[in-house]
Amino acid sequence: MQQGGGILVVGADGMIGAALAERFVSTGVNVVRTTRYGGRGSLPLDLAIHPAGWQIPAGLSVAFLCAAITSTKECCDHPETTRVVNVDGTVALASHLAAAGVRVVFLSTNLVFDGSAPFSQTDAPTCPRTAYGQMKAEAEQGILEHGNLACVVRLTKVIGPPLPLLAHWRDSLNRGEPIHPFSDMVMAPVSLSFATMALASIAKTNVCGIFHGSASEDVTYAEAARHLADRIGADCDLVQSIRAVESGISLEHIPQHSTLDGTRLTSEFGLTAPSALLAIDELAQSWTNL
Ligand SMILES: NC(=O)c1ccc[n+]([C@@H]2O[C@H](COP(=O)([O-])OP(=O)(O)OC[C@H]3O[C@@H](n4cnc5c(N)ncnc54)[C@H](OP(=O)(O)O)[C@@H]3O)[C@@H](O)[C@H]2O)c1
Repeated sequence: MQQGGGILVVGADGMIGAALAERFVSTGVNVVRTTRYGGRGSLPLDLAIHPAGWQIPAGLSVAFLCAAITSTKECCDHPETTRVVNVDGTVALASHLAAAGVRVVFLSTNLVFDGSAPFSQTDAPTCPRTAYGQMKAEAEQGILEHGNLACVVRLTKVIGPPLPLLAHWRDSLNRGEPIHPFSDMVMAPVSLSFATMALASIAKTNVCGIFHGSASEDVTYAEAARHLADRIGADCDLVQSIRAVESGISLEHIPQHSTLDGTRLTSEFGLTAPSALLAIDELAQSWTNL
């Protein structure tokens, strides 16, 4: 690990934060976890409550900012309260950590782009079309001001065992009930293990700036669901796709593309995300291993 220091995982009870902390612990790295309320081995840290005054534990070299309000709907419906966490608190904590010499790795999203083109480059101007994406883009900007102490890792959809949507699909299919995934909405999913491997690699070096983690292609939610049904041995006729625009669900924006250009991860760390369908295979496999 970089300079032998400890790792701070902010938001360690979230899907990615929990898996990342676990990955470091399993390799003998000293990990300090924070959760909103603390307890069960974690320190309390609420991004909405004066994070710039948070007492930074000694001996940290890298901090992963995994905490955020991740519901696009909540960000859209409550822009003021979510901004306090996703922008103000996040940037304040990053500045506080950087001032103490701790390198900050911020988890961001393909939604900082509008999705009008595939494989967005790391240096492309951001152009979000959702409140969540707008907040992430603003937080990125504030964090990247810390120069060589700042990394932004933009990830496409990360799929792991705790992901509610895919677990819901699996449970419904296993009960013989139909599911209705969108045929006009795409994802370029990376597995949770790929995402944490990429983040852990970034922690080992002094790299800074922007990295992208993305599958090599987009698949529609309907294609992903059909593939999942096939993999878990469910009846594929139960996958009855619908168009998001006709679903009655109000969505802020439906990106045409979600892929990101991931060549920097490949060139600097030799990491290339598997295809979208392989990420789904990995998820289906992990369920059978549970
Ligand atoms: N999962 C993806 O597909 C994906 C893709 C791209 C980027 N990302 C980014 O990666 C990061 C982690 O994502 P995830 O999927 O692991 O998210 P998650 O499961 O929703 O976890 C987010 C965590 O943030 C915590 N949090 C919310 N408000 C907080 C506050 N005021 N103070 C402190 N903690 C707070 C939540 O705590 P509570 O449980 O107490 O609410 C939760 O544990 C996020 O920044 C997300 O934007 C995720």
